[in-house]
Amino acid sequence: MTYSALARKWRPATFDRVIGQEAVIQTLKNSISEGRIHHSLIFSGLRGTGKTSTARIYAKALNCKNGPTVEPCLECDACKEIAEGRDIDVMEIDAASNKGVDDIRNLKEIVQYPPIRDRFRVFIIDEVHMLSTHAFNALLKTIEEPPSYVVFILATTEPHKIPATIRSRCQIFEFKKIPQIKIVRHLKDICEKEGINIDESALKLIVDASEGSMRDAQSLLDQIISFSGDKITEEDVSVVLGIPDSTVFFKIFKAIVNDNRKDIVDILDKLEERNTDFVKFVLRLGEFFNNLLHAAIKGEKEFFPEDLRDKKFSIEDILRYLNVILQNERFVRDAFSPRIAVELLLFKMVFASKVMPIAELISKKKLIIESNPSQSGRESAFPEGKSVKGEIREKKESDVLNFVKKGFEDFQEIAPILRKAGLKEEDDNIVVTVHVLPDSVKEIIENKVFKTIEGNIHIRFKRKVNLKLETEVDVKQSVSETETIANHPLVKKILTEFDGRVERIIK
Ligand SMILES: Nc1ncnc2c1ncn2[C@@H]1O[C@H](COP(=O)(O)OP(=O)(O)O)[C@@H](O)[C@H]1O
Ligand SMILES: [Mg+2]
Ligand SMILES: [Zn+2]
Repeated sequence: MTYSALARKWRPATFDRVIGQEAVIQTLKNSISEGRIHHSLIFSGLRGTGKTSTARIYAKALNCKNGPTVEPCLECDACKEIAEGRDIDVMEIDAASNKGVDDIRNLKEIVQYPPIRDRFRVFIIDEVHMLSTHAFNALLKTIEEPPSYVVFILATTEPHKIPATIRSRCQIFEFKKIPQIKIVRHLKDICEKEGINIDESALKLIVDASEGSMRDAQSLLDQIISFSGDKITEEDVSVVLGIPDSTVFFKIFKAIVNDNRKDIVDILDKLEERNTDFVKFVLRLGEFFNNLLHAAIKGEKEFFPEDLRDKKFSIEDILRYLNVILQNERFVRDAFSPRIAVELLLFKMVFASKVMPIAELISKKKLIIESNPSQSGRESAFPEGKSVKGEIREKKESDVLNFVKKGFEDFQEIAPILRKAGLKEEDDNIVVTVHVLPDSVKEIIENKVFKTIEGNIHIRFKRKVNLKLETEVDVKQSVSETETIANHPLVKKILTEFDGRVERIIK
């Protein structure tokens, strides 16, 4: 990660300034205020989520001249020097560097000496998972019997690479990804205090790209400030990060709906000029169409650009677009030229709106005939007035039956029997046809399973529906089956021998 002035300047100095790690912070504070100092701690979690910062705060809390305290003064020599990473008794070791490895080899010697000025000797070992087996052994020896004045904080992004022997001797603290909303809030605060004017949409782009790491968010902000000064727009961010801004997606959407292939090529040319990362682009394209789908389902017209609101594209069209994106996304990722792959994907989307699977065509025709012969084959995503009646009825029927089927699954032992049952809706009755069943099972089905499902249907569909159990006795077949068996030469012989008859066939 590149050097970031903002990240350094805004490193949280006290427990309460650490954002998004409430559980970790609370536990640490409790241990200090209750006088139960942990001597070996593992801080695990994504980069830039506060591990080093919290380690330093913990060191200050232990060594502040007023300490141990949950509110280090930040004024005394220990507090100041720890914050600057130059306290003689608080050692930060980078396990990924040669020097760090040497330090750890000598750890056993180093820990023998009590702290020079502070209360505790604190070792903050960063990227501890990078240590060699040899170095881990040296570390383990010291962690097994540390002098009372020694505290180890092992920071890692990959806790599973720490040997179990060490892990089992440590208290483990998990640092979480920081929620987007909290990063947005923090960046806003920083911008305000730094006199930077930034659009909300620009912030959103930065935070999206930072994937839960506060440090990444801050260093992206740094880069963008050095690019565009103290006034930042969404476009600035999109140029620096190579992520298209949201207006691009609307332009693409329009070009697809209007079958305007030249526009698509032009837009892609521009994006390419701006060094757009086309892999990220496709991910965001997917998000965009997903949002579009939600807006269409909820009937939120405002989401759509004005000149598109009256277009005849349907929810099915949007689903088809999404499908094309999902199916082709990995081709873009693997393509020798992601740009070309994206172009192909967008053209596929243009064609997708014209293709209507035959099955769909037939079922649509049927619906149209049932409801309104003058209705055109395509419905708008925002149907005006009433919906197609036939469609609603057909839907409701299958909904109730589906609901019943799903309801069966709630009864574990019975579900396998009922899964094979035939279901038929007759007015307010649903007839459930099963093979012959013992009475005890029938009873459970009727009194327990059916009653529950009927109640749920009432709640869900506001309908009173009776479930009826019918057993299917296929007389014809069973008679012919017994006959066939009885005519088998061997069976015949036995029957005459014992004067018997075929009562039942057990399969
Ligand atoms: N939870 C957090 N709250 C506030 N700022 C944070 C947080 N996590 C990281 N930062 C910011 O990122 C910078 C680097 O954080 P750091 O504690 O070194 O992360 P880590 O050690 O987990 O990689 C800090 O200086 C601070 O500006
Ligand atoms: Mg760190
Ligand atoms: Zn202090």
